[in-house]
Amino acid sequence: MTDPLRPDVLIGAALPPVTMAALERAFTVHRLWDNPGDDALAQVRGMAASTLAGPIGAALFERMPALEVIANFGVGYDNIDIAVAAAHGIVVTNTAGVLDEEVADLAIGLLLATLRRIPAGDRFVRDGHWTDASFPLSPSLRGRRVGIVGLGGIGKAIARRLGGFAVDIAYHGRTQQQGVGYPWYPTALALAQACDVLIVVVPGGAQTRHMIDADVLAALGADGVLINVSRGTVADEDALIVALQKGTILAAGLDVFAHEPHVPEAMRALDNVVLLPHVGSGSVVTRAAMGQAMVDNLSAWFATRQPPNVVPETRHLAG
Ligand code: NAP
Ligand code: 8YV
Repeated sequence: MTDPLRPDVLIGAALPPVTMAALERAFTVHRLWDNPGDDALAQVRGMAASTLAGPIGAALFERMPALEVIANFGVGYDNIDIAVAAAHGIVVTNTAGVLDEEVADLAIGLLLATLRRIPAGDRFVRDGHWTDASFPLSPSLRGRRVGIVGLGGIGKAIARRLGGFAVDIAYHGRTQQQGVGYPWYPTALALAQACDVLIVVVPGGAQTRHMIDADVLAALGADGVLINVSRGTVADEDALIVALQKGTILAAGLDVFAHEPHVPEAMRALDNVVLLPHVGSGSVVTRAAMGQAMVDNLSAWFATRQPPNVVPETRHLAG
């Protein structure tokens, strides 16, 4: 028997304890990892999704005929087959707006860690080498031109921070933005030709798959640095490994990978790359804010059918 005041919600993968508790307070929850049966799934009206739950699409939707809304724990929703969700009349929400500053902090940290070789310096001291040798001088951010691939919420927060570093900024997106003073380039290749740092922060998915390919890396050049905080699919990982091995580019800082949590051995063996385990938004406070935003979107859907963060592809289904 379902409780109309506590709609049935499926949780795709374990979320922070504070978020799990908030979901349990508001809804009748089912956990995908407990393998709920078809009778239970047939009652489900909402889903709390995340990239950790794996791809979400037709196979799951067929088992949840009453599903009305998917609230994603994260701003990127390439984990959800959005066209099929829309075709099923399912509204999808994300957590836009609560993580921009956190991810931008991490991107700048990764840029500096990569250029100034901060993790290598840390290992140098811990391994006792400082008493015998000086740490090699590093490349610099001074005088660089930084291209932002995807000047959206996070990209703009990165640009604001870069303003304090006195570097030139340019960007690529599908369209030139009104009121943005930075030079716009119509392709990632053209941006790479004009810059010696690329910071990638576009959405994942088919449209951006391998946008950063061998040609873009070659255009970035031997002094070039790639920072990717978007999705691993956006860069051609094999081409990137070759470019780092051959010195086609100088270095890379990566928070995201094509097959997380697996990072190719050839990538891990390189010393001109800084590797992070997809932690752009991964602070206690920001993950809690993302969880609250996700719960708020679910609650708003069931109360008013107007959640605050409906993604563009399903906006026509809300309200
Ligand atoms: P957003 O506000 O929607 O901005 C995305 C930007 O990318 C827009 O400026 C858009 O400009 C551009 N863009 C979209 N599709 C494009 C395409 N096919 N070609 C070129 N440019 C394109 O998104 P956001 O909140 O900044 O987040 C961006 C992405 O960062 C997320 O989707 C997610 O994948 C990733 N992310 C990663 C982490 C992490 O932990 N590492 C955390 C949060 C988000 P136009 O519309 O003009 O093209
Ligand atoms: C999430 C992210 O932490 O928001 C996004 O798009 O990549 C991260 O903030 C991740 O999706 C957690 O599942």
